[in-house]
Amino acid sequence: MAIYDKFAQHYDSFFAPLERLGLSQSRQEALSLLPVDARILELGCGTGANFEFYPPSQLALSTEFSIEMIKTARSKTTTNILVNADAQYLPFSESEFDAAFATLVFCSIPDPVLAFNEIKRVVKPGGKIILLDHVRPNGALGYVFDALNICTRSLFEDHFNRRTAKIAASCGIGNIEVKSKLLGIVNLIIGTV
Ligand SMILES: C[S@@+](CC[C@H](N)C(=O)[O-])C[C@H]1O[C@@H](n2cnc3c(N)ncnc32)[C@H](O)[C@@H]1O
Repeated sequence: MAIYDKFAQHYDSFFAPLERLGLSQSRQEALSLLPVDARILELGCGTGANFEFYPPSQLALSTEFSIEMIKTARSKTTTNILVNADAQYLPFSESEFDAAFATLVFCSIPDPVLAFNEIKRVVKPGGKIILLDHVRPNGALGYVFDALNICTRSLFEDHFNRRTAKIAASCGIGNIEVKSKLLGIVNLIIGTV
């Protein structure tokens, strides 16, 4: 993603206030739901903001599409394996992982259906999927997000009105549980493959 190559240098300082306001805590909550001593796949790890919250793992494999974001991520881990990969076309075999997760990534992925299908392919049946993301809220606010989406899509390649849990369900992700945060603007989505 060209936008994230340009933004990489400033990403951590831009997000620092949000991390302090609760994002960091939500990351911790999301990753606490991952299985321990398992084979974990992260999609779009960015600059590695989640690394400190990974559970003890058999394999911690973090993928990212932007070369510049992954450069920063590399400086933050000695344990994770980092792979430059598009979440829509993962370079892994069937059922290689016990669980997959992504934070603030499904809003950016051009075709989330492709990414969900890839998760279903590389995570073993019954494996967990955890997503933390901003989504289209219900009610009147949803229409505001529809309007904002016109700008965020063209300026930042960010889909501001994505119904991520609904798309996950339509792709066959099962047992979906949604924890709604911040007036429904942020969702913690838990499901199984
Ligand atoms: C808002 S950042 C979130 C980064 C990190 N997950 C976090 O929580 O701080 C969105 C990230 O998704 C990545 N991304 C966007 N589309 C992607 C794709 N198709 N495959 C893999 N990563 C992608 C971007 O490069 C960027 O690093």
